[in-house]
Amino acid sequence: MNMTGAAKLAGVMGWPVAHSLSPMLHGHWLDSLGIDGAYLPLAVAPENFAEVLAALPKMGFRGVNVTVPHKEAALAAVDEADALARRIGAVNTIVVGDDGKLTGTNTDGFGFLENLKAGAPKWNAAGGPAVVLGAGGAARAVAVALIDAGAPEIILVNRTRARAEKIAADLGGPLTVWDWDDRAAVLAGANLLVNTTTLGMTGKAPLDISLDALPAAALVNDIVYAPLQTDVLAAAAARGNPVVDGLGMLLHQARPGFEAWFGVAPKVTPDLRARILENLAGG
Ligand code: ATR
Repeated sequence: MNMTGAAKLAGVMGWPVAHSLSPMLHGHWLDSLGIDGAYLPLAVAPENFAEVLAALPKMGFRGVNVTVPHKEAALAAVDEADALARRIGAVNTIVVGDDGKLTGTNTDGFGFLENLKAGAPKWNAAGGPAVVLGAGGAARAVAVALIDAGAPEIILVNRTRARAEKIAADLGGPLTVWDWDDRAAVLAGANLLVNTTTLGMTGKAPLDISLDALPAAALVNDIVYAPLQTDVLAAAAARGNPVVDGLGMLLHQARPGFEAWFGVAPKVTPDLRARILENLAGG
């Protein structure tokens, strides 16, 4: 990296932020595209979030990503949130306009779908019901993406049923809510199974689900990427289902922000994936 005084500035605001892979991801694109720019980790405590965000345009920042725990606060703090961010209820990408105004959007659903397109080009959201496990922020972004991609039914299954009911009520569309105990039964006839819970993540309990009822052609995706090969992906692959791991969602959700801030559309390449994977493996 060799920037000048005219370097374009962006970054990621989180608390903590030290674990974020985004600086390495955007740094790889800046280097490989030869862009005069920087993407910084910005550790900002919740009580300082609104103040720091409002100061960014005054320091010449072109925008930022926002991660845990600021995504919902960002929706309220930006000058304008687009319709997608409002439906998802969270902002993960902020662009500073020429007038200094902050516009917020959410690219998590885009990243989710682009990852499926790249990993399973023949899969089609309109081909049948999608089963979504979980009802956190990630599930909301996934559900919005699936509605917009034309899924005929989205089956939400969450341990705390009320959280899934809230998503269904907020989003409308072809969402149905099922109990956690029904998670294996609802797989009959599914076209997609997505895990958006934290189960299966390194250090968390495994995701315990029987895939016996899942059609052989159904696509299985886990948004957990540490480990890359989760138990549910391994079980799905072993019975012949197509599978897509979660790393691509992280890589693809970063593309729109990078393009808005630095003016070039970046690509998700095997090189980039390998570099991020090395970093994951190294802890
Ligand atoms: P995010 O916003 O990043 O998606 P989250 O809000 O912490 O994360 O959501 C985590 C998801 O994992 C939730 O759906 C959670 O279920 P609850 O809504 O019932 O909390 C799910 N989850 C976490 N631990 C779980 C467990 N042991 N069994 C079943 N689901 C679990």
